Amino acid sequence: MIIIETMDEIVSLAKRRGFIYPGSEIYGGLAGFWDYGPLGVELKNNIKREWWRKMVYEREDVVGLDAAIIMNPEVWKASGHLEAFTDPLVECKACHKRFRSDKPETIKEHEKEHGKKPEWTTPKTFNLLTEVYLGTTEPKQKTYLRGEITQGVFMNFSNVVDSTRVKIPFGIAQIGKAFRNEITPGNFTYRSREFEQMELEYFVKPDAKESEKIFKYWKEERLKWYVRLGMDKEKLRFREHAADERAHYARFAEDIEYQAPFGWSEFEGIHHRGEWDLGRHKLTYKSDEGKEYTPWVIETSGGVDRAALFFLLDAYQKGKDRVYLKLHPKLAPYKVAVFPLLANKEELVKKARTVYEDLKKKFVVVWDDRGNIGKRYFAQDEIGTPWCVTVDFDSLEDGAVTVRDRDTTKQERISIDKLATYIDNKLNAEN
Ligand code: GAP
Repeated sequence: MIIIETMDEIVSLAKRRGFIYPGSEIYGGLAGFWDYGPLGVELKNNIKREWWRKMVYEREDVVGLDAAIIMNPEVWKASGHLEAFTDPLVECKACHKRFRSDKPETIKEHEKEHGKKPEWTTPKTFNLLTEVYLGTTEPKQKTYLRGEITQGVFMNFSNVVDSTRVKIPFGIAQIGKAFRNEITPGNFTYRSREFEQMELEYFVKPDAKESEKIFKYWKEERLKWYVRLGMDKEKLRFREHAADERAHYARFAEDIEYQAPFGWSEFEGIHHRGEWDLGRHKLTYKSDEGKEYTPWVIETSGGVDRAALFFLLDAYQKGKDRVYLKLHPKLAPYKVAVFPLLANKEELVKKARTVYEDLKKKFVVVWDDRGNIGKRYFAQDEIGTPWCVTVDFDSLEDGAVTVRDRDTTKQERISIDKLATYIDNKLNAEN
């Protein structure tokens, strides 16, 4: 019961404070679509920036890419998605609603709605790719919104090899939108129809032992990334896919799962795709020694929206008299809030404005002069702002401000000329 409350509280906080809104809400919404508000877009951008920094900028063996969302439909034929990117569905014969037959909890929940157990059809498979039609005259060209961002990387494998200095082993990283015609979107943003992925396709020699080593390396790296950004280690685990649940392209796969209020849930997959993709697209690589072969692929595939949801859930803290989001400062939408002690004292506002304008050049900063200090702390805690800076009457004399820490609520007096360095050191301190 408590668990469900947390989920409801996060959904409510996300809407009330501008993280996540239901998509096209004024027309009744659209199942599986969500809009990110002023704070949500910052959180998501911060997650993506940290991912890109770790996966691209800090490495010599990874380059980035931004491929088109819509591709030639032949891509999806060759990749196997037209045939195998499916979910097994059953239909309730009483109300004709459809559910995934591999999710017994959802089925049981639906049965409860009817009171007595309804009859179900036998499972049938449905393709998850979303169709789009291009052109203005008939017949229009049918293709698909990408169901995984991955295929765009394979489409550009040879372009990247020919136009850069990469040599196997190397990776191509990408972040972008993917679309799936999910039959039962739900659990807030967890299962959406439009979502964002952050993926690395790492190309290796076709060698079983070596590729398994690289698979293990990436698995650990990805878990560490979440922990370093503050996720509770105790709420994370790996789960290996059984043979009958692996995607059509995977030789083997493991998920990183988070202990969400709705149960252990996958939010990143590490997949050994073997030679499936480059083999299907008939793409090869020539080594410096002139040996031509089909590289194998190790993939790390994370969901930006699921990461954002789990970072929010994980950060949600209820104190005695406050709720606060203990987000890692790197992920927090605003790093600093600046207040004048009193909003009606011109000299305080003027001084606070100069502090605000100066910090704004270096960090994402918010100005707040509503209500009293206590209310402002409360409001900033709820959105996870790590540091609140107050300009008071003493500041006019001693050139210092009060900096209040979100997690400890402790206050420190810091000289204005050292403030930016103070924030910068805290922000970049590895924990
Ligand atoms: N390229 C491999 C791939 O797409 P996946 O396990 O199907 O693998 C990877 O998806 C990640 O994408 C998931 O772990 C999840 O975080 C995210 N994802 C998948 N379907 C999603 C959905 N319907 N809504 C939100 N995120 C989704």
